[in-house]
Amino acid sequence: MERRFEPAGPLRGSLRPPPDKSISHRAALIAAMGDGKSRIENYLDAADTRSTLAAIVAVGAETAVEPQPGGRGKAAGLRLAIHGCGLRGARSAAIDVGNAGTLLRIMPGWLAGQAGHSWTFDGDESIRRRPVDRIAEPLRAMGASVECREGRLPPLRLAGAQLSGIEYELPVASAQVKSCLLLAGLLADGETAVIEPAPSRDHTERMLAAAGAEVSAFDGRVAVRPPERLVPRSLRVPGDFSSAAFPLLAALLVSGSELELEEVGLNPTRAGLFRILTRMGARLEADASGEGDGDAAEPQGTIRASWSELAGTEVGGEEVPLAIDELPLVARAGCFAQGETVIRDAAELRLKESDRIAAVCEGLVALGGDAESKEDGLVVRGSGGLRGGVLDAGGDHRLAMLGAVAGLASREGVTVRGFEAAGVSYPGFEQDLRSLLSS
Ligand code: S3P
Repeated sequence: MERRFEPAGPLRGSLRPPPDKSISHRAALIAAMGDGKSRIENYLDAADTRSTLAAIVAVGAETAVEPQPGGRGKAAGLRLAIHGCGLRGARSAAIDVGNAGTLLRIMPGWLAGQAGHSWTFDGDESIRRRPVDRIAEPLRAMGASVECREGRLPPLRLAGAQLSGIEYELPVASAQVKSCLLLAGLLADGETAVIEPAPSRDHTERMLAAAGAEVSAFDGRVAVRPPERLVPRSLRVPGDFSSAAFPLLAALLVSGSELELEEVGLNPTRAGLFRILTRMGARLEADASGEGDGDAAEPQGTIRASWSELAGTEVGGEEVPLAIDELPLVARAGCFAQGETVIRDAAELRLKESDRIAAVCEGLVALGGDAESKEDGLVVRGSGGLRGGVLDAGGDHRLAMLGAVAGLASREGVTVRGFEAAGVSYPGFEQDLRSLLSS
């Protein structure tokens, strides 16, 4: 599907971004592990998180979509009741993760400790390029039997076994790997600990603690001990900061814009982009008004963004995992900023839904930007904006949305090829963006 985004007038008004994808995946998985009925409000209704619902049903959980109580606004997600099958009650299945890397990396953690059952995990063409040795190696060290294609790629075959807790030092900061091992630790003997080289998103820790597990996090060491059971809980998923980042960036770049984003998750382990853009001179305000409803509280609030003059910046080190999915947007902002924007220590970007270092660099250059790729990042020199042209999303949802935002702020407009990929995380994206142009 091809979509054209012409240069456009200011973005005005307010928007509630779609529910958080990372939190939705985890909420469904942890509810499936519980004994009894959990309720999730505002669950993301998108391709990736539908794969997670299908996966938990495949292993024996039951899900029911309940009617919305109403009045929560147009972006409200699904209201779900999930009957878990209990920590040790999953049955063998072949699981199709679609495009969902988070499902592929996290769910095997839960299943690995269930002796006598086996599972396969496979997905689309892009999933088959996503490395899984990062979870296979530590799960094997805990005692599970895990096989992957060419030793590192899906399909992944897993046979459950009685696990022993380990202390595992992550080679790169990854919330997916950390979460996988914490879930495995729930069924292992003794303590399971993960040492993180830098902090990464902590949604799993928050949710497990709310479900009654003994989780500790201190000085980069996150540990869990096996509980008897997980207690079913209720949770309302906040808006997705990573999805909100696209209209937010459009508002910063399109002259005269003023935008309010409501009910956005503001967990500091997710909102690194906020600090990076503020440093670049962005006129941004966040009012972290609440902790949200439900048991696994997540900070959330309203963000206000106005058109801004930006200056280049450097991003590296501990800031990278806190903004990992938003770094393409930093590069995009760099085209509009005075001076140079440098992103380093971000080689992980090459292993996302696409090689995001190569794809962003090629995309920005094709649209008239001055960008150079490095092994572990990008250098972008501000060129007063972008001309426009054609950008191929290459099956990557975040590149599709990046192209749309680029179009609005370009001189000649942008055609995005493969725009349907946006539906992986933000099905109403185009409509939301256009509604802000006409308000
Ligand atoms: C995610 C963690 C990040 C991120 C991905 C979602 C998660 O991946 O890029 O989009 O929900 O845990 P890594 O754990 O590989 O850094």
